[in-house]
Amino acid sequence: MKKFYITTPIYYVNDIPHVGHAYTTIAADVMARYKRVKGYDVFFLTGTDEHGQKIEKAARSMGLAPKELADKVVVNFKKLWERLGIGYSHFIRTTDFYHEEGVSRIFEMLYKKGDIYLGEYEGWYCVPCETFWAESQLGSGNVCPDCGRPVEKLKEKSYFFRLSAYQDRLLEFYEKNPDFVRPQGRMNEIVSFVKRGLEDISVSRTTFKWGIPVPFDKSHVIYVWFDALFNYVTGIGYGWDEEKFKKYWPADIHFIGKDILRFHAIYWPAFLMACGLEPPRRIFAHGWWTVEGRKMSKSLRNIVDPNKLIDQFGADVVRYFLMREVPFGLDGDFSHKALVTRINSELANDLGNLFHRVIAMTERYFKGTVPPYFEGSNEVRTKVNETLREYEEAMENQAFSRALEATFNLVRYANRYVDTKAPWELYKSGKLEELGEVLYELLEIMRITAILCYPFMPLKSREMFKKLGVDKVEPEEEDFNWGGLKGGERVAKGDPLFVRVDEEEVLGKVLKEIEDAEKEEKEEMEEFVSIEDFVKLKLVVAEVIEAERVKNSSKLIKLILNIGNERRTVVAGIGGSYEPSELVGKKVIYFSNLKPKKIRGIESQGMILAAGNEERIYLPILPEDTPVGSPVK
Ligand code: ME8
Ligand code: MG
Repeated sequence: MKKFYITTPIYYVNDIPHVGHAYTTIAADVMARYKRVKGYDVFFLTGTDEHGQKIEKAARSMGLAPKELADKVVVNFKKLWERLGIGYSHFIRTTDFYHEEGVSRIFEMLYKKGDIYLGEYEGWYCVPCETFWAESQLGSGNVCPDCGRPVEKLKEKSYFFRLSAYQDRLLEFYEKNPDFVRPQGRMNEIVSFVKRGLEDISVSRTTFKWGIPVPFDKSHVIYVWFDALFNYVTGIGYGWDEEKFKKYWPADIHFIGKDILRFHAIYWPAFLMACGLEPPRRIFAHGWWTVEGRKMSKSLRNIVDPNKLIDQFGADVVRYFLMREVPFGLDGDFSHKALVTRINSELANDLGNLFHRVIAMTERYFKGTVPPYFEGSNEVRTKVNETLREYEEAMENQAFSRALEATFNLVRYANRYVDTKAPWELYKSGKLEELGEVLYELLEIMRITAILCYPFMPLKSREMFKKLGVDKVEPEEEDFNWGGLKGGERVAKGDPLFVRVDEEEVLGKVLKEIEDAEKEEKEEMEEFVSIEDFVKLKLVVAEVIEAERVKNSSKLIKLILNIGNERRTVVAGIGGSYEPSELVGKKVIYFSNLKPKKIRGIESQGMILAAGNEERIYLPILPEDTPVGSPVK
């Protein structure tokens, strides 16, 4: 039996599952189901990525142990996958024993082989975040890109993977396997990245504890990406079930988002080569979803919370929309307007209607049983064969939206066929044989449609079969052949396949949710200034060297400040509380990098720090010996 091994990324457990995670996982499930129909022995792996500083920090902030947090979040993922009909073969957690064991042994093996060595990691370190940054990642003024606080240069011992040694082998591999990364454009990106040169990568950390310990040096934990990527082999038995591992490896396809392509297309094959294992056959990096035209922020995410979408529209509709709306590989937008249109016009109108009307006619003209087998007209058989070809070609290339397009073209064709053949006319004029043939053709098209829909909408597909009097949960390869209906099956209209949704109601609700989300975000932004923003302000000690009242103003005083290497002019509203003469020689705190502003025709270059209210202003005056120009922290 041919095998097919497919994976999703393993998701971090510091987050609740959102529509992005659902997208990749649904796509993998669609592919897995298709391959099962095609007779493959499919292994479909998904799971969670549970180690690392990110998880440790998230857990700490919730007052939980990292494993406790993981245990909670894993439940959310598993529940969602169940609701979405995700038929994975195994759910791996990187805290699973066999995985930790496997990674630890691989690390030791590569160390002994010399592909991993102890070196020194030099970088910019943010103490509060416990994170190393490359110089190029720092914010302006050498601050941490995450929190905005100053970073310091630090050296720590670290184990390194000799990635540089694999540059040529990787390039050779890409050359021999031009389809390794999909879509094509991303393959080109990877090749040119590798051509620019690869540096060895640090694969251990000493600054936190939550990870798999380096087996021969327990002060280090293994870098989370080294740990995580190996899930793809430990999950199918590497190190604990060699037979199973041999059967499924190499992976036929890793589905990932474009955000983690470099890890998968460069590190991963290099790690595998080092282990003497074959690289995966294909990495498919899909695009990025926005929501209603906006970047998916925390609060906008709630609008497309998969659980909510399932409650509102049903799991199969969610699956259909995500697979149909955007060509796999491209970025796309989740818009409720588009969703409503697809439900109402494609699912309810085109597909739902076809089932409704053809089954109603079968009931009316043939007492609810499928007419006798008919080989089908040339036209119909050609259309069906064309559809199958397009569909298969699309599915083999992970072009899911194209496969659905082909499917729905067939559905619309069938609807037109009803109109042109006008079975009611055939009935009226007593052409019962021809009527039977036309209905058989239509019912057979519907049966094939149910197969084509199966990977995308497994539950709806089963309903479709049921309506046709066929008891089928999972179609098989031979079901694609014409003539699956034997004649005599009892059809049943049952409930409509899809219910139309009220566009105004859905869109009105979403609009309100977007407004709320935006308000919430704005309030959060107003409530807090990020440290990143705060540290942008430069406060320095300044000495007042001249002070005079601004003409015709009781409040304003013009100050000339010495800030060490420069003079600055500032217009300050302190004239009600201070005389110019008492200010000269005083050391004050000055905001040196505010945008200059014209006040009464004078350019004021920033502000000085002051306290108080309308009635009285108080200047914080610094001790006389405070050095001019020194930064205020
Ligand atoms: O990166 N649009 O986990 P993660 C489309 N643990 N897909 C999206 C998306 C969006 N807006 N947001 C997320 C990790 N995704 C690592 C992976 S694998 C060995 C380790 C999907 O929880 C997409 O598949 O951050 C992306 O690659 C993945 O979620 C990242 O999930
Ligand atoms: Mg991420």
